[in-house]
Amino acid sequence: MLLFFQWLMEQPSKDSGTKMNYSKDSNQQLLDAFIKQFNHFHENIVSRPVASSVLHQPSCHLPKSGLGFEKLDTKLSEEILPNMSASNGGRYWGFVTGGANPIATYADWLVSTYNQNVSIGGDSIATSIELRSVEMLCELFDLPATFKGLFTSGATAANLLAAFTARQFVGHQQGLDIAKSGMKALEVSIYSATPHASMTKSLAMAGFGSESYIKIDCEANSESMQIESLENALKSNSKKGAIVIASAATVTGTDFDDFINISKLCKQYGAWLHVDAAFGIFERLISGKNGRTAGLELADSITLDCHKWLNVPYDCGVFLTSNQEMLRQSCEVKAPYLQSVEEEIPFMSLGIENSRRFRALPVWATLMGYGRDGIKSAIKKNIQQAKKLADWLNSNSNYLLVKACQLNVVLFKPNPAVTTLTSSECMSRLNQSGQLFLTPGSWQGEPIIRAAISNWSTSDEDIETAIVQLAAIMTNS
Ligand SMILES: Cc1ncc(COP(=O)(O)O)c(C=O)c1O
Repeated sequence: MLLFFQWLMEQPSKDSGTKMNYSKDSNQQLLDAFIKQFNHFHENIVSRPVASSVLHQPSCHLPKSGLGFEKLDTKLSEEILPNMSASNGGRYWGFVTGGANPIATYADWLVSTYNQNVSIGGDSIATSIELRSVEMLCELFDLPATFKGLFTSGATAANLLAAFTARQFVGHQQGLDIAKSGMKALEVSIYSATPHASMTKSLAMAGFGSESYIKIDCEANSESMQIESLENALKSNSKKGAIVIASAATVTGTDFDDFINISKLCKQYGAWLHVDAAFGIFERLISGKNGRTAGLELADSITLDCHKWLNVPYDCGVFLTSNQEMLRQSCEVKAPYLQSVEEEIPFMSLGIENSRRFRALPVWATLMGYGRDGIKSAIKKNIQQAKKLADWLNSNSNYLLVKACQLNVVLFKPNPAVTTLTSSECMSRLNQSGQLFLTPGSWQGEPIIRAAISNWSTSDEDIETAIVQLAAIMTNS
């Protein structure tokens, strides 16, 4: 009977596409279809609307028997892919969005093909590649080798690990093991000037509460922390422990905190210092370790995002800490079937997930394939492009440049002395043009428009196209 069922399972299905199977022929079919899709996407990326203006709902119900590959591919081509945004192209300037560079894209195909689980190690080179990639990122950013870390799904997950690690550290100072006994007895004050929304979300998820932090005053016309205010706050802390959350490039103003003086205060008051450097860390490639990120190396933990300015595919953030033991204690997994045979701490005991995608490979490939110079020149180009856009806005009477552009984010709004268009109306018109995609922000309490340029493929023609569109919507308003 068993043999009969085994035989039945091995028989080719009538519709070979509905049975899970790799064969030379079906592999070729997948590759041919993929090359077609890939070329079609790249040949049309410049002309397709940057954002879908009509959001279609997919028409699909779970079929009893599968469509098979050919019909599925037709469905993808007709219903799904045309309604994707051009977020992987040069004029998608919302949020802080990187593109997927060619070498990383290739590596990412291999990630799915090999489908390693970078969890425990001992069965593949993948663990060593992740370790080495983290080390190479530290080399790239001139951070001491004392920083250890891992790849996360993004900066939000890295910020969450920061909250866990800081919580464990402060607990230790108070003789508590938070990972074991919880936070009931923990006494801590958290300080920050302009935390990213993902950081306050992380505070919520870690059990502190998103509104639990004490807001430190900012410098004038800036989102960076006033050192004197932080000092006064730490001095008057009535709790036993403290955590300071600083920023290397705030998401709107691209302002950097003064890490040298903040870290001095943190040492003095025994506070944990976390720096959210999701995209700002890339500035270190331009002005070096004594530039705007000076003192970043003094942090206890750092968040950075490779799917932003390193331009690797989603999802790929990094958490670094100089106190890996606190991270391990926060995330340790214990089960007899999960014993590691390696000396290194398994990644599943350092991060949120047990099973983990081989996120390191596209990063490793990018670092090896383009090297320090290639990565630096892509960053430099984006900064120059942002400056060009900012200069044009500054010289055009229809717009107000809200803040001098100091990195890759341009903040602007329609000039109220010339037009009645609000920022939100102006942004909608620009986005509806299909020529560019921008997202809103707030500067000093006023609604504004943000253009964040962090895609390796943004060309000078893309900037020209955007300028033409910016001019056109004012002429037609
Ligand atoms: C400073 C900063 N931190 C964190 C994040 C969140 O990143 P992710 O979307 O990768 O979780 C962002 C995203 O823009 C950011 O700019």
